[in-house]
Amino acid sequence: MALQTHFDYRSPTRIVHGTGSRTQLADFLSEEKPLVVTDKGLVSAGVVDSVLDVLTRAGIDFVLYDGALPNPPARCVHAGERLYKKAQCTAIVAVGGGSPMDVAKMIGVVARHGGRIERYLGANKVPGVIPPLYCLATTYGTGSEVTPFAVLTNPKTQNKDPVISWHIAPLVGILDPELCAALPLSVGGPTGMDALTHAIESYTNLLANPITEGLALQAIGLIGANLRLACANDHEIRATENMLIASMLAGMAFSQTRLGNVHAMSHPAGAQYGIHHGLANAILLPYVMEFNLPARLEKFAQIAEALGADTSGMDLREAAQAAVDAVWELNGDLRIPTKLSAYGVKRAGIKRMSAAAMTSGNVTVNPRKTEQADIEALFSEAI
Ligand SMILES: [Fe+2]
Repeated sequence: MALQTHFDYRSPTRIVHGTGSRTQLADFLSEEKPLVVTDKGLVSAGVVDSVLDVLTRAGIDFVLYDGALPNPPARCVHAGERLYKKAQCTAIVAVGGGSPMDVAKMIGVVARHGGRIERYLGANKVPGVIPPLYCLATTYGTGSEVTPFAVLTNPKTQNKDPVISWHIAPLVGILDPELCAALPLSVGGPTGMDALTHAIESYTNLLANPITEGLALQAIGLIGANLRLACANDHEIRATENMLIASMLAGMAFSQTRLGNVHAMSHPAGAQYGIHHGLANAILLPYVMEFNLPARLEKFAQIAEALGADTSGMDLREAAQAAVDAVWELNGDLRIPTKLSAYGVKRAGIKRMSAAAMTSGNVTVNPRKTEQADIEALFSEAI
């Protein structure tokens, strides 16, 4: 099934999962003074307090940095670095979705290795380990609690560029469903679709290997069975728990394989129009799946089944198409619009976004060979 005959699988992050598992933070940090990195929304929602209480009760001295922004620019990172150094912190705790976790990783890089964060953009530019990093996921989308990636938004180029290094993979990822129990549909839907996009892009791309295929397909099944329910009602803690696991599994998969055209396109759309990462992915996913379908008929048929479609009696092409239809249906149930224009993305930006997308390493691993004209056509359909 996999194309890769040679691969080098790594997954260095310890995973702690379960309701109330945030309390284990006290054991990990008994000898540390952590900088707690988060955003103001999570502070005002009271989510951060439920983590800080654990530290306070254990008598652990900490410093709070709530300046992580969505699509984080470098100034977020360096403001956190200054606080880390001033307070002489020794560890970092991230409480959040992707942005606080990515900011925490990048604070770790500059706090330990110095200079501007831009110096470390690209693959394997981080020269050594960062301070011990503990990530508590408050959404079930990014999987950043297990990945070696952090994404920085550059206001000058209006693009998003990654720091890629196993040195920035968190030491421990904590999955406590109580931290994301109250995600409303408007947040849970798009973030869950980000996780689905990770899983589908990883499962079908050129670098998939037997380990990542297992992780990704398991994630797809869990998302198909749980995302609607997790968003439907705050009390569906088991569905939320399963979504957290799915997001983490997808993160483990794409840590090895990278992604595909959806992420290549959603990054410039996010950088240039500010559209939420998960929303951009959710909207782009079925268009890119249509494009990739001829290159991965069997895998698309497997995705359809994992998402709960009944493909019995269908030929292979119809079964593959059922995967695309299942994603349209899921987007509809989650009230996600069908076009990027609903969030201000303009046709006038197609050339510029497409040129930026073509610089992404995700295009080169996309299962169907892709030229800039293909990306422009996909944007044209999806706007
Ligand atoms: Fe993503």
